[in-house]
Amino acid sequence: MTERLVCVSNRVSVPRRTAAPGGLAVGILSALKGTGGLWFGWGGELTEQEPGEAALDRREGVNYATIELRREQFLRYYGGFANGALWPLFHYMPSKFRFQPEEYAAYEDVNRQFARKLQPLLKPDDIVWAHDYHLIPLACRLRELGVRVPLGFFLHIPFPYIETLRVLPTFSELVRDLVAYDVIGFQTQSDLDSFFTAAAHVFGRQCVVDEGHLNIGDRTVRCGVFPIGVDVDAIQQEAIAARASEVVQRMVDSLSGRKLVIGVDRLDYSKGLVERFTAYERFLEMFPDNCGRLTYLQIAPLSRKDVPSYAEIRGALEQAAGRTNGRFADTDWTPIRYLNRNFAHNVMMGFLRSAHVGLVTPLRDGMNLVAKEYLAAQDPHDPGVLVLSTLAGAARELTSALQINPYDPRALGHALQTALHMSLGERRERHAQLLETLREHSIHAWADRFMAALRASKAET
Ligand code: F6P
Repeated sequence: MTERLVCVSNRVSVPRRTAAPGGLAVGILSALKGTGGLWFGWGGELTEQEPGEAALDRREGVNYATIELRREQFLRYYGGFANGALWPLFHYMPSKFRFQPEEYAAYEDVNRQFARKLQPLLKPDDIVWAHDYHLIPLACRLRELGVRVPLGFFLHIPFPYIETLRVLPTFSELVRDLVAYDVIGFQTQSDLDSFFTAAAHVFGRQCVVDEGHLNIGDRTVRCGVFPIGVDVDAIQQEAIAARASEVVQRMVDSLSGRKLVIGVDRLDYSKGLVERFTAYERFLEMFPDNCGRLTYLQIAPLSRKDVPSYAEIRGALEQAAGRTNGRFADTDWTPIRYLNRNFAHNVMMGFLRSAHVGLVTPLRDGMNLVAKEYLAAQDPHDPGVLVLSTLAGAARELTSALQINPYDPRALGHALQTALHMSLGERRERHAQLLETLREHSIHAWADRFMAALRASKAET
């Protein structure tokens, strides 16, 4: 029998032409396309009745198995516990955190359903790789059903330090669930350190960390840092081709020679958009010569609309964009173009290539692949400049970017001014260093290293 990779995530994104996939989907697809494996998860449909078995499909060499979820339960699991409790807490924003026991119960139950529907599809030589905070209890539930294949888990978002984590009444159950995986991967060393601290807090002397292995009684869990990356060559080709496309050309023509500053983020409070808009307004105050000479394009597709904190941020952003445009716009110039829509991935890469400055200023982020995509999409002979938040996981690697604290509007304003006026020599030098890092930590290296760790755990058992 041959090994098969089975990826599991909350949402399965069957490739679509109209919308750019997020970081998680790009990563999973890249791992699966190399191996022809299976992607299992929720297919995006909700039902009022008891959902049936997984629906199977095959596209572009990848097999898909998707399930439906009951509407009421989904709202509690996804909008409730996953995105109302875990998301804000894991992004160090306890002020947005809310906990409802019935939402936690729905989260547990959805993981049980995932396990029940995945188990019959598994073969003895499979390796299973689960993704993200929605699926922390999945390994436990699969083991209860007698599944014996290696189980790995990668957390795409930050793992919080214990003093934040223990705000969650069920944090101890969560840590106990997590260590049922054989391999656990994090984006950065500080996430891994926080996890070890949490494990020590929960298991006390029972747990010992030894060269990246967490030993709890007679169990060994391999833990490591696997920074997710991008496919530099594929993005470069995509960006070059898209730059010449009609939609990108129209956007560039509409700039009338002005420099372009770009931001591309899911509309999420963790992305620091309100702070970014405020800093941009301050920048126009501090450096008025820029008025009329640049355009800031912010693409922010709507996300998690049913979660109250997401609706609030939408209102705040509309107000901030309206205020800046009202204050500074001229009859022939709009300072901010703010769009709540998505574009195909290649078009997005064409937009990124056209931008003199990329603004990636989350208040907290596991990695942030837009930062890496922006760099990969640039013309190495005349590259743009990345302004990057120190609080994004990507900041650990992308040390030649202009790094700023996203809460400091003056710092962001100064960085934007520096970026817009940076010499070609300095831009090239910084970009070359950053590209080297990108190639070292590519999306292929990420998938290969994680799968190697899973295979090694299999060999040990
Ligand atoms: O990594 C963050 C993440 O939650 C992924 O799990 C997910 O694919 C992406 O953001 C988009 O989020 P959602 O599926 O909630 O729209």
